[in-house]
Amino acid sequence: MPSALRIRGLTKRYDDGFLAVEDFDLEIEAGSFFGLLGPNGAGKTTIISAVCNLIRVTAGEIDIFGEPHDALAARRIVGLAEQDVNLDRFLDVEETLLYHGGYFGMTRAAARRRAAAMMDVFDLHAKAGVRAPKLSGGMRRRLLLARALMHEPRLVILDEPTAGVDFELRLELWRYIRRLHDAGTTILLTTHYLEEADELCQEIALIRGGRLLARDSVGGLLSAYGVHSLSDAYVQAMGEGVEG
Ligand SMILES: Nc1ncnc2c1ncn2[C@@H]1O[C@H](COP(=O)(O)OP(=O)(O)OP(=O)(O)O)[C@@H](O)[C@H]1O
Ligand SMILES: [Mg+2]
Repeated sequence: MPSALRIRGLTKRYDDGFLAVEDFDLEIEAGSFFGLLGPNGAGKTTIISAVCNLIRVTAGEIDIFGEPHDALAARRIVGLAEQDVNLDRFLDVEETLLYHGGYFGMTRAAARRRAAAMMDVFDLHAKAGVRAPKLSGGMRRRLLLARALMHEPRLVILDEPTAGVDFELRLELWRYIRRLHDAGTTILLTTHYLEEADELCQEIALIRGGRLLARDSVGGLLSAYGVHSLSDAYVQAMGEGVEG
């Protein structure tokens, strides 16, 4: 079985000359629950945007389940919930889901069934006919997740899915994402909540300044840095990252 995600030598220099990611390698096994952690500006969203063809890469190769990331076959097996909540303000909740299903080649009947299931899961049925600007922040975040999952992607990428989400919804989202993972979906998550990463992720990559600092299980990171909590390991790694 090929890796869910394989990044080799990824470099991204933005048009203004800023080098956001440099010679970055990462391989994520199929079926894993993977966390990408690092401070603001570390390059997490840049890496994810490169994987999902939202930006042009300067150099490097990215494969998704063995397919080049820009091939149609690869695009179809990835579901992305972006950090920025980018919903079409003119579509209501149900239309948002149906349009997405259509875009990914689902039949109308299949899209309807799936949209109903997603509205159940994310408790959005009561808002089916409401447009994005009239949803609360947490509801928009839920819709973003529901949309990412519409086409049943094998690799789900969640860029800070719980930012600004209330305590209860966060626990619910954790439960749901865990169920997805148990059903065989590969998950790539970024978060600034270390307890979230600790709770959910089997493996973690720590990045800073567009470079990989460490990559291991939580237990592996604790022993590598000789500490007892993920937050201590994070602080140590980031300290060393600054000196290096
Ligand atoms: N379009 C752009 N043009 C120039 N620089 C950019 C652009 N987008 C991002 N950057 C820069 O690239 C660096 C990495 O940004 P990125 O969004 O990948 O960080 P991040 O790890 O996702 O941070 P956060 O935790 O704040 O979301 C930052 O210094 C940012 O200012
Ligand atoms: Mg980001």
